[in-house]
Amino acid sequence: MVDCIDCHMPRITKSAWGDADAYTGDIRTHLWAIDPYATSQFSEDGTTAISQVSLDFACKSCHRTGGSASVKTDEQLKDTAIGYHSTP
Ligand code: HEC
Ligand code: HEC
Repeated sequence: MVDCIDCHMPRITKSAWGDADAYTGDIRTHLWAIDPYATSQFSEDGTTAISQVSLDFACKSCHRTGGSASVKTDEQLKDTAIGYHSTP
């Protein structure tokens, strides 16, 4: 069962331990709101981050190669994430 905090409060923050390839750090974020159009949390040079949770951290801690769920492309994640809680 996927819980609210799995998507909304992923472990973006790195205090002591983090694995960028697995989209996970050791501390959960309090950003909370997800931007379903954003597929990257950080700017290309890594110096700035967006103010909402992006799909890489909201989804790819699980939906990635070697993760606990099926591998999904950014487009597939977006299709599901946009309007996620509204009935189709
Ligand atoms: C805590 C782990 C976890 C997170 C985080 C997570 N998922 Fe999932 N998701 C799963 C599992 C487990 C399944 C069911 C089995 C599978 O497809 O791997 C699933 C299934 C899905 C499916 C259906 C797959 C299919 O092919 O039928 C979609 C689409 C999906 N998730 C999208 C998302 C999106 C979009 C996000 C982020 C906003 C997200 N998930 C975040 C674990 C997660
Ligand atoms: C599979 C990942 C996933 C899970 C689990 C999930 N959400 Fe979301 N949630 C999203 C995404 C993606 C959006 C953004 C949808 C959009 O903007 O179109 C969202 C949007 C929201 C919003 C609107 C926030 C805003 O910015 O206006 C609320 C409120 C919310 N979720 C509450 C919850 C609650 C409460 C739970 C647990 C019962 C939960 N969500 C579980 C992915 C998830």
